[in-house]
Amino acid sequence: MANLCVNIDHIATLRQARGEFEPNPIDAAKIVEKAGAIGITVHLREDRRHINDNDVYLLRKTVKTKLNLEMSINKDIVDIALDVVPDEATIVPEKRKELTTEGGLDVINNFNKIKEIVTKLRLKKVIVSLFVNPDIRQIKYAKETGTDYIEIHTGKYANAKTSKDIRKEFFKIKKAAYFAHSIGLKINAGHGLNYKNVVPVAKIPIIDDLNIGHSIISRAVMVGLDKAVKDMIKLIKK
Ligand code: PXP
Repeated sequence: MANLCVNIDHIATLRQARGEFEPNPIDAAKIVEKAGAIGITVHLREDRRHINDNDVYLLRKTVKTKLNLEMSINKDIVDIALDVVPDEATIVPEKRKELTTEGGLDVINNFNKIKEIVTKLRLKKVIVSLFVNPDIRQIKYAKETGTDYIEIHTGKYANAKTSKDIRKEFFKIKKAAYFAHSIGLKINAGHGLNYKNVVPVAKIPIIDDLNIGHSIISRAVMVGLDKAVKDMIKLIKK
């Protein structure tokens, strides 16, 4: 049965709207953990548009469950990750102008660089995950990097409009997950998952963690963070 890791980037987005101190991601992480999530996910973006270095170092000290750091392959970010030593690191592609992570990693064309970073992180006993599209070729190369996990990008499924497209994208995720499992990879999933579309993905029994951010933080504005997290866990465990 899948577990929930909450991406709290948008707590920091709200803080950055004023450039001051609230809401505080460290306090948010505590509420999220108390509500039953098994991990806290943050993306230290190159432009520091939400989470900053200080947040990451403080979360490293305060998170009691699991800290999953999303990171690009940029050297400065990799150096910080190797210094912070999160419990888990999810390597993601990053473009400065994108609103959010738009697609999976191109592991094939960045193979040597990604493999080198995976090796460095694993030497520090960090669990490594590569964020990839549900694409069999990319997953084959991901396995060759020595990564522990892949995280399947569920964005296309989440954005699909017709029931035919939703089904098509869902089966791509399922097929990719079972392929990854068959070659010895562990599987997480995330991006664009919300209270309406999460259940089928959560029901794929070989998926370990779902990384969910925007929908939970949006709901938290209306009903509170504790309830928003608990409501999502209820759906995932249904
Ligand atoms: N997983 C990864 C690798 C991501 O980059 C993101 C977005 O930061 C998420 C999951 C969460 O996506 P969302 O905010 O759409 O739930």
